[in-house]
This record gives sequence, structure tokens and C-alpha cells, in this order.
Amino acid sequence: MNLSDKKRALKMFQYGLYILTARATDPKESMPYAAATVTWVSQASFEPPLVMVGIRNESWANEAVKQSKSFALNVLGKNQKAMASKFFKEVHLDGNKINGCEFETGVTGAPLFLEANAALECSVEERIEKGDHTVVIGKIVNARLNAAEDEPMLLRDTGWSYGG
Ligand SMILES: Cc1cc2nc3c(=O)[nH]c(=O)nc-3n(C[C@H](O)[C@H](O)[C@H](O)COP(=O)(O)O)c2cc1C
Repeated sequence: MNLSDKKRALKMFQYGLYILTARATDPKESMPYAAATVTWVSQASFEPPLVMVGIRNESWANEAVKQSKSFALNVLGKNQKAMASKFFKEVHLDGNKINGCEFETGVTGAPLFLEANAALECSVEERIEKGDHTVVIGKIVNARLNAAEDEPMLLRDTGWSYGG
């Protein structure tokens, strides 16, 4: 295989940006919540309504999703690059804010950010551990729209890169 071609072909994939959240049953240093900016997300079925997401094995997000068997995808709009950049690193809880972003708790216990365009809550149907990321298949159990604005943030417009 030509590795450079593989990398370039994979970089042609289009992605949106999401903040994946979950509430762990066994908090890490008294932090029950995980919140990580992710891009490897896709719808996977109409009926039942499934989505899939690739989560880095070594992350707190992966551990929290594994523990809670549920997660939320907070869908970011095209003007929310600053918000996305707050969740590339460790999370801190301050009242009802995580890394400075206000949230409410969803039916799964996952934080739903008020600023995000929308949120989908999922129960975990399956976790597939094959590579350095775990493919998590989730069934949508709750959906909420926060903003009339529905233009999504696209990875290619941010100048960031994840994939290849
Ligand atoms: C542009 C970009 C996209 C990312 N997409 C993903 C992704 O799809 N899945 C993932 O697990 N991590 C992704 N990450 C890395 C996570 O944001 C980062 O590992 C995470 O916030 C750390 O979370 P933790 O505290 O749970 O370990 C991405 C990072 C960047 C810069």
C-alpha cells in the first residue's frame, strides 16, 4: 500500500465537530464528567436510529462512555470554534459549567451544553475495540435543539486536522 496515498485519501473525508460528553459511574479525581471534542462521527442507521463514533482508547471520554453505557453528542455550529478548542484538553467542573461552558444534565446523565446547536443522547449498543480508537455504536434516546441556526462546523473549515 502507498501510505501517502492512504493518508491523503482519508483526509478527503468530510467531518463535523461535536463535543462528546458522558457521566462516569466512577469519577476520576472527583470529576464524574468527560467532555471531548470529536470529529469521527456518523449516522449509522435510520431504524433504529444509530450513530457511531470513534473514541481514542486512552482517553477519559472512552472510559466514561464504557462505564456509563451512554453518551451525548453536542453538535457544534459553524461559529463555535472557540468552544470546540476548550475540549481538546482536561475537563474541570465549576458549578454548572465545564471548562467555562454552561450545561444541563440530560436523561442519560451526560452534560448537554446550552451553547451547542443541538444534542443527541445515546445508549451504547456496542463497543468495538479493534484499533487505537474504539468504535462506539449508540442508539439515540433523546434529541434536543438549542438553536435555529443549523449550519454545522466542518473540520475542513477550521484548519485543524484529525485523520489520515
Ligand atoms: C480536530 C480534532 C479532532 C478530534 N477528534 C477526535 C475523535 O474523533 N475522537 C477522539 O477520541 N478524539 C478526538 N480528538 C482528540 C480529543 O479531542 C482529545 O483526545 C480529548 O479531548 C482528550 O480527552 P480526554 O480528557 O477524555 O482524554 C480530536 C482532536 C482534534 C484536535
